[in-house]
Amino acid sequence: MAATRTVIARAPAKINLELRVGPVRDDGFHELATVFHAVALFDDLTARATEPGSGVSITVDGIQADEVPTDDSNLAVKAAKLLAAHIGLESADVAFELRKGIPVAGGMAGGSADAAAALVACDALWHAGLDREQLLHLAAQLGSDVPFSLLGGTAIGSGRGELLTPVLARGEYTWVIALAEGGLSTPGVYGQIDRMREAGEAPQPTPGPEIDDALMAALRAGDAAALGARLHNELEPAALAMAPQLERALEIGRKVGALGGIVSGSGPTTVFLARDSSHALDLAVALTASGAAADVRRAHGPVPGARLVESVRG
Ligand code: C5P
Repeated sequence: MAATRTVIARAPAKINLELRVGPVRDDGFHELATVFHAVALFDDLTARATEPGSGVSITVDGIQADEVPTDDSNLAVKAAKLLAAHIGLESADVAFELRKGIPVAGGMAGGSADAAAALVACDALWHAGLDREQLLHLAAQLGSDVPFSLLGGTAIGSGRGELLTPVLARGEYTWVIALAEGGLSTPGVYGQIDRMREAGEAPQPTPGPEIDDALMAALRAGDAAALGARLHNELEPAALAMAPQLERALEIGRKVGALGGIVSGSGPTTVFLARDSSHALDLAVALTASGAAADVRRAHGPVPGARLVESVRG
């Protein structure tokens, strides 16, 4: 049988239904308690096996493709190199084609999705046969959100976000996602919340941040209204201080009756929970017409984590 020469992996965007940010740890990361939720905006990564010694290359198209680095700082490239080293390959030989559907630097773990997709793709391409635990371990070395990009669904994240416990959530939720002009730097937003806390401009961090019981109950019950009311992001004041124009999108969401609306992760994307698909359309139209969003998407969640969608033998 011929070896697998090309595979395609797909990985989802995430939003944080709740994001509690504890104090800064000795390693510079913040202790988190968060609920990750994977939504149906995807990056697709095609991986083609190349000649021994050729190394990793990547081309990018799709939304905001110009803003994605194609050098060694690209997270998919890093993931391929890490996996190759882990399985003892001398050279990571693969040509990637990345199609972006997830906003870049938007607070939706787009880079992490690419890393997760690369791990799944290279594992298949190089017949590494790593199990989920091994892939999750490599993922955590690539970034705090990468393990969740592999896992998908709805999950509690602790530690710096890399320690995951899947949540038994009922139902499907309809989200409206308002993309902003430009991105926000994740370290920049964490730095901003630290400064605001020091200056008494934001509530002080709790040493052991915890997830809200009412939010968990809403997820178990599949109660969208209750979930919407409990959406909470402790990075939001920092993102709003750095991008005050996001207030406008949040205000439109409230006016059009979103069940809840928050900044996604470190922003600047804002996300709104709709009652159903026709309400989602109303929200999308209002956000688009107001000019408060650079672009608007609708997406359901939860969806699975990074997985192979196609495998071509040659
Ligand atoms: O892990 P990741 O590379 O995604 O983190 C990017 C940056 O975000 C970190 O360098 C850090 O500044 C900030 N961060 C943090 N606490 C976390 C996760 C990320 O301070 N739990």
